[in-house]
Amino acid sequence: MRNSYDAYETEIVDKIKYKVVVGSNIIKHVIEEEGYDNGIGIIGNGIAKSNPWIVNELNEMLKDITIVDDGENAKRLETALSIIEFLWKKGADRWTPLIVVAGGSLGDTAAFAASLYMRGIPLVHIPTTLLAMVDSSIGGKTAVNWKGYKNIIGSFYHPSLIIDDLRFVKTLPERVFRSSLAEVLKYGITLSRDFFNWLKENRSAIMKRNEDSLKYAILSSSKIKLSVVSKDPKERKGIREVLNYGHTVGHAIESLSNYKLYHGEAIALGMIVEAKYANLEGLLDTKSLEEIIKIVNDYKILRDAINDVELPNEEEYIEAILRDKKRKGDKIRLPIVREIGVWELAEIPVYDFARRTYKILRETYEELIGLQP
Ligand SMILES: NC(=O)c1ccc[n+]([C@@H]2O[C@H](COP(=O)([O-])OP(=O)(O)OC[C@H]3O[C@@H](n4cnc5c(N)ncnc54)[C@H](O)[C@@H]3O)[C@@H](O)[C@H]2O)c1
Repeated sequence: MRNSYDAYETEIVDKIKYKVVVGSNIIKHVIEEEGYDNGIGIIGNGIAKSNPWIVNELNEMLKDITIVDDGENAKRLETALSIIEFLWKKGADRWTPLIVVAGGSLGDTAAFAASLYMRGIPLVHIPTTLLAMVDSSIGGKTAVNWKGYKNIIGSFYHPSLIIDDLRFVKTLPERVFRSSLAEVLKYGITLSRDFFNWLKENRSAIMKRNEDSLKYAILSSSKIKLSVVSKDPKERKGIREVLNYGHTVGHAIESLSNYKLYHGEAIALGMIVEAKYANLEGLLDTKSLEEIIKIVNDYKILRDAINDVELPNEEEYIEAILRDKKRKGDKIRLPIVREIGVWELAEIPVYDFARRTYKILRETYEELIGLQP
């Protein structure tokens, strides 16, 4: 016989407000207007070097600032702990905002630290790469890497304000800028035919970093991502999974390249491989597949990257796919694009997916190397 028990069940609704501001030379104005000038600033060392003005600007405005290593190697538990140590030393309390000026790597790490310190302090993102503006600063996924695998330790924790200052885009190295465009393309490919068409038509202006075009691309991407996140904030309802398009294959090759491939480059390659897989399965028509490959090639995301990186070893690739967080038992939950702007969630036997996508990956590598000038 079962023991009896008493229970009480309720649902806690956590309303989260987001504000995304896009423009040039807007940081001081927006921080003061929104009342975050009592915050503590974290600035990536690469940004402090490429954009020294930000150090003076934040120094004049905020209580304390510090400069922290950035880039993928900084995405470690130790970095998160060093940020917590700094907050503690400076006497930060539960109400002290953390203002993070960084690309996606340090941005994810500092946001993770903000989620842990005193169980969570207010967070403002000032993303400095295009990828961080359109993707990593939005949606509340924070994480550090662990044992060579991506994003194993992390939390869901949202910023209340995101300030996208286009001054940062000007100093992005060409390869970093282009790799960021993979996530912008992802929104069009998976969720909006209109945005996809706009990206085709405005390619030249975007690649020349025209401010008005970038503003439109950043705001559209932010709106698309927030509309998904607001329906499924913790990726439990089969909606937010769409944002992982290209990421199952992408994360595996990104880790196995020892991060020589930038995140966006790996995702671009992952989107092509996953689209080819869907095409072979009869789930994506060949015309749409060609459109996906063409837009990635036209934006030249993989051009400078592919020669630097070897095709991963098959066993290691399969192992990396089997360890993916999206795995559920012997299946993997994968967003499949059915046509541009239309997708569905599939549960696919993971081992078979890993074996077959490896073959596609090898062929795609050979094609891309053949395309090199
Ligand atoms: N949390 C999420 O939802 C999410 C989404 C997508 C990606 N990510 C993560 O984002 C990370 C990649 O971030 P990233 O592509 O922004 O790169 P990054 O943060 O690793 O930065 C790359 C390099 O660019 C330099 N840099 C940054 N801004 C600069 C600027 N304005 N001018 C000159 N140099 C600049 C940095 O110093 C660094 O050396 C990955 O770890 C990925 O997992 C997270």
